[in-house]
Amino acid sequence: MSGCPYFEKKHLLFKNKPPKTEEDEDDSQAGVNKASRGGIIYGDYLQLDKILTAQVLQSELKADKIHDEHLFIVTHQGKLTIIPLTFALPLKVRDERNMLKVNTRIHRVVMIFRLLVDQFAVLETMTALDFFDFREYLSPASGFQSLQFRLLENKIGVPDNLRVPYNRRHYRDNFKGHDSEMLLSTEQEPTLLKLVEEWLERTPGLEVDGFNFWQRLEINILDGLNQEKEKIEKMPDSEEKEELMAEMVKQRELFTSLFDEKRHDHLVSKGERRLSYKALQGALMIYFYREEPRFQVPFQLLTSLMDIDTLMTKWRYNHVCMVHRMIGSKAGTGGSSGYHYLRSTVSDRYKVFVDLFNLATFLVPRHWVPKLNPNIHTFLYTAECCDSSYCSSDDSD
Ligand code: HEM
Repeated sequence: MSGCPYFEKKHLLFKNKPPKTEEDEDDSQAGVNKASRGGIIYGDYLQLDKILTAQVLQSELKADKIHDEHLFIVTHQGKLTIIPLTFALPLKVRDERNMLKVNTRIHRVVMIFRLLVDQFAVLETMTALDFFDFREYLSPASGFQSLQFRLLENKIGVPDNLRVPYNRRHYRDNFKGHDSEMLLSTEQEPTLLKLVEEWLERTPGLEVDGFNFWQRLEINILDGLNQEKEKIEKMPDSEEKEELMAEMVKQRELFTSLFDEKRHDHLVSKGERRLSYKALQGALMIYFYREEPRFQVPFQLLTSLMDIDTLMTKWRYNHVCMVHRMIGSKAGTGGSSGYHYLRSTVSDRYKVFVDLFNLATFLVPRHWVPKLNPNIHTFLYTAECCDSSYCSSDDSD
């Protein structure tokens, strides 16, 4: 008998309904089995035969089958799912009405990245000794030869000059023929970073002959800092006053550097900033006005882009921790220094959207942010309806 308190009162609930016949008693069996009419079956549609037979265990070929090698292979194969998705990003946003679609796709990539980051927990159920049992069979293969990983990095915008060299060699030296050509072309094509940069440069409100956000912001910040300084100067001499004054000097230096285009270009040349000066202004504008309806979706997009960087960094970090646990300081099967090489890649050099993270450095009190004027509220940032980027079929799925 069921322990559910409602179970025994069932007859009361259905008291006024006609009694059911045996056939309609079981609603779970309603419907017609369409599969019996023929057509594609699910296993074929998903090409499961290929997937389920795509794990060739080197240990098994050498008559020494080691169960964990299967898990090791499947974990690597799972990572590939992200590649076609990333390539499908419709980032040529010429019409702001596409923003929702772009946002949704980027968000999906973020969700997949999350899974990949968490996947290490499963592989970590393998012990170093288990791995040692089949490691020799992998050599000289290595994750360093992952074409998909390099394509992904290039597509997002990891620049060639910021990469950590691998045995003092260029990363592309590990690839030949068509693979090498594909890598070269992703280095030359517009990256996600580049497309985002172009979009940010068009942020409405940056126009010098219009709202001129940047100039207004500079005036407000300098005014705000001057007022703060006056307040501190009026304070009686004390340790606290000295500290506040020192902090004020730092703040002034920080903001002077923000409004110095030459300094920005210098930081870009060193790889410490990645966006153009104008794009940085657009990003800051979206940050400040994120509650305005027109900036809400752009703000979400900036957040997702940071998520991608964060998750890539977490992936690198989880991977390097696992490598440390599995092989200690031994060299990698691909010949790198292993743990030491991988540790050096968990760095801001690989953070493509580093400028978005740094925006928080320049946040100011709300009342310093220039008030939007009525024009900017009504500005329609949409192209003509016939614009092909809005209606194009390749973006429509
Ligand atoms: C027992 C588990 C693992 C070990 C011991 C390991 C070890 C290593 C080592 C030592 C390297 C440096 C290159 C070399 O010299 O070989 C490397 C690179 C790499 N591995 Fe793994 N790995 C493991 C699991 C994975 C998994 C599960 C994936 C993917 C899902 C993966 C993807 C990669 C990639 C993409 C690189 C290149 C990283 C870069 O250059 O920044 N590895 N791995």
